[in-house]
Amino acid sequence: MDVQKKAAGKADTLYAKVGGRESVNAAVERFYGKVLEDAELNAFFAGTNLTWMKLRFSQYLAQALGGPADYRGPAMKAAHGRLSLERGHFKRAEKYLAAALAEVGVPPVLVKSVMQKVAGLEPEIVKEEQGIH
Ligand code: HEM
Repeated sequence: MDVQKKAAGKADTLYAKVGGRESVNAAVERFYGKVLEDAELNAFFAGTNLTWMKLRFSQYLAQALGGPADYRGPAMKAAHGRLSLERGHFKRAEKYLAAALAEVGVPPVLVKSVMQKVAGLEPEIVKEEQGIH
């Protein structure tokens, strides 16, 4: 589609710098490989269609990095609210995403930039109340 090409072709976006759709898809593929091998995370995805999940995650990430705005799912808070995720879960996922990006050849400085954006999602994804009440 023309609109997508235009968005994907914007050389100054983080999306373009990391290598566009090819890199994002490859990194997301590896990311879920790691998540599913992690005994503290994989149970969350027991009932999930992974093909669908990878597509959604790729679309979300692409959009967050300035690529094509194809994501049509719910906001992060709504998507994760029922899961009651803790900070530790989020941190593990962050680690795997950073490793996956590095493995597909994204340079460290760009991995850092991507992860700065992802870090900003923590308040939306992790459950709010973790203190003693
Ligand atoms: C690192 C930042 C994260 C991002 C950007 C992200 C992104 C997404 C997206 C885009 C969806 C799809 C929402 C929809 O279309 O309905 C989703 C759903 C989901 N996420 Fe995350 N997520 C993140 C972290 C996590 C973590 C840490 C976990 C737990 C280990 C997790 C577990 C799930 C589960 C279980 C679903 C729902 C799957 C289903 O409905 O079957 N996510 N996430």
